[in-house]
Amino acid sequence: MITPDTIQRVRDAARIEEVVGDFVRLRRRGANLIGLCPFHNEKSPSFSVSPAKGIFKCFGCGKAGDSLGFLMEVDQMTYPEAVRKLAERYSIDIEERQQSPEEQEQAQTKETLFQINEAIANWFQTQLWESEEGQIAALSYFRERGFTDDTIRAFRLGYAPKSWNSLGDYAKEKGYKEEYLQTLGLISKSDRKTDVFRERVMFPILGTSGRVLGFGGRYLIKKENSPKYINSPESEIYLKREVLYGLFQGKQRIIKEDECYLVEGYTDVISLFQAGIQNVVSSSGTSLTSEQIRLIRRFTKKVTLLYDGDAAGINASFRGIDMLLEEGMEVRVVLFPDGDDPDSFARKTDTEALKTFLKNQAQNFLAFKAHILMAEANNDPLKKAEVLRQMADSLALIRDNFSRITLIQDCSQRMEVPEEMLVSEINRRIRKRVSERNQAEHSQSAEPKESAEAGDNPELSLPEPAQSHKEIQRETAQLDLIRLTVLYGDRLLHFSENEQDFTINALTYVLDELDKDNIQLPNPLAQAFIETLDSLDQEERWSEIQAVLIGHEKSEIQHKVLDFLQSPYHLSQYWEERHNILTEREDTLLKKTLAHSILSVKMNVLLDRSDALRENLKDLQIKQREAESNVQEELQLKSIETLAELSKIQKLIQRFATELSRVIIR
Ligand code: CTP
Ligand code: MN
Repeated sequence: MITPDTIQRVRDAARIEEVVGDFVRLRRRGANLIGLCPFHNEKSPSFSVSPAKGIFKCFGCGKAGDSLGFLMEVDQMTYPEAVRKLAERYSIDIEERQQSPEEQEQAQTKETLFQINEAIANWFQTQLWESEEGQIAALSYFRERGFTDDTIRAFRLGYAPKSWNSLGDYAKEKGYKEEYLQTLGLISKSDRKTDVFRERVMFPILGTSGRVLGFGGRYLIKKENSPKYINSPESEIYLKREVLYGLFQGKQRIIKEDECYLVEGYTDVISLFQAGIQNVVSSSGTSLTSEQIRLIRRFTKKVTLLYDGDAAGINASFRGIDMLLEEGMEVRVVLFPDGDDPDSFARKTDTEALKTFLKNQAQNFLAFKAHILMAEANNDPLKKAEVLRQMADSLALIRDNFSRITLIQDCSQRMEVPEEMLVSEINRRIRKRVSERNQAEHSQSAEPKESAEAGDNPELSLPEPAQSHKEIQRETAQLDLIRLTVLYGDRLLHFSENEQDFTINALTYVLDELDKDNIQLPNPLAQAFIETLDSLDQEERWSEIQAVLIGHEKSEIQHKVLDFLQSPYHLSQYWEERHNILTEREDTLLKKTLAHSILSVKMNVLLDRSDALRENLKDLQIKQREAESNVQEELQLKSIETLAELSKIQKLIQRFATELSRVIIR
């Protein structure tokens, strides 16, 4: 444990502009420095560093923090790792708190295992570069595969010699415990304790911060009774579910490009990396785990799977896909031409052509899946129906409404089924999910109550489920409108009315619409948003307006905005990157979605109002019956007013209902 004192000294010594300066080119602007944000893609700088305050802040994506926070974010370090790194940089001695003997021993073992792996990785490298056997057998093999010396060094590739115990001998000389070597899978557990990796080219597997977790060793010559790869076993320091090959080398670029390519093997990673595609990782032979997905998600939400075009590969990828969608990732896929894998394709294609190929070939995974499955169903109506159900299953997992809408259109085209069919299948699943969730919540909250009031009429003691469900829906509708407004408020919308064309931005549209019918949003958070947005100077760039919201005094607003901004897609980015969909269509879609959202909210508000008026009316009528004759007339007048109001609202509801059915979004 590092002492708080040390941490404070590190904090004081660290100069934010230097720490950030290692990763971002900064220019001075007034008291601050600005540059291109390393956490999201941008062309003009919105990333600002304040040396005086010792903090950074991006007005584009909202990331902010101090030097330690920056390192943790940009280099995916843990807190202690970041402290150590800065302590080293500013020559500060680290004081550590005494640990318990068990803590010490465990930390000690792990540390020793890391040290052994590090030494052995170096030893494999020495064998490759310096021994005659290594040069002849392995170095030439790598070079024949087209790996440059730089690449070989960047991935710390090595060679394990043919002899039965040269590694064992080396380790003994260094004084490493046999037991540790066995734990690490370097020496066999059999009596002879021979080297496990022999006559193999070695691929060290590095953790996110570059430490050696284990090895993969590929045979040089195909052998009948020996596997192509031997991989280190799972150990205290190598948790396979949580490791991605290539992440250490590629993480900077994954952040920069805001995209991660996923391939099958070590050599695919290395070849693509060398060809200039450095944002690439591999789960190395095993199927993708949810831990690995979450690891990627720390860097980006966009994953593109690169597959060689055989059926096995494609089927294997279907399995992981729902998992990726459930984790909120945006998944695309690139298929390589027959007979090529990413490795072979990268070797014969130059960087620019490769990049173009990847860009052009990338298709949304679900649309792609729809296409493949429909082809397989081969016009058999039963199979087609099954495909429809499967696709609806996957599409229902997508949480972002915009992308769902686009995907539904895309899939329906590729499957040649009407959109309505998909929509109703999907809605059924979503409804089911919502009601299951409500039931689960309901039974949780009802259980203790039931036992406490045993003997009571259970029907009376239960809360009314329909009510809470309705409330949730209403709140969601309001916050959805806010989400759209916060994300896309500056988008221009074109209208033509009475032969007059006019253009306003989405925020103005929303504010006008609410104002027009005198609507206050019942949800206080949603209403607070509207009021804040209404008060802001719209001349500001939208990112600045978002920044103001992020810095809002109400922490609920801050959190919600961050939530919104972190939702998987950005409307325009998503569409422009993909099929060059016309901006006109984007405009139409946003208009429709906004109109739908506003109408639903208005509708809810009016329904509430009409409910309240009805209650009023009932009250008035009861009072009227019991009242003295002198106040009766007054009460009657009130009833009539209330009735008039009610009928006005009824008409509005009617109107909105018609409008709503006209802008049903698909
Ligand atoms: N793999 C493994 N054990 C095996 C075969 C494969 O662990 N017996 C893993 C390795 O991580 C390998 C990946 O699966 O990188 C993909 O396998 P494959 O395509 O056969 O290997 P490549 O690394 O592509 O090797 P090469 O291009 O040299 O054939
Ligand atoms: Mn291969």
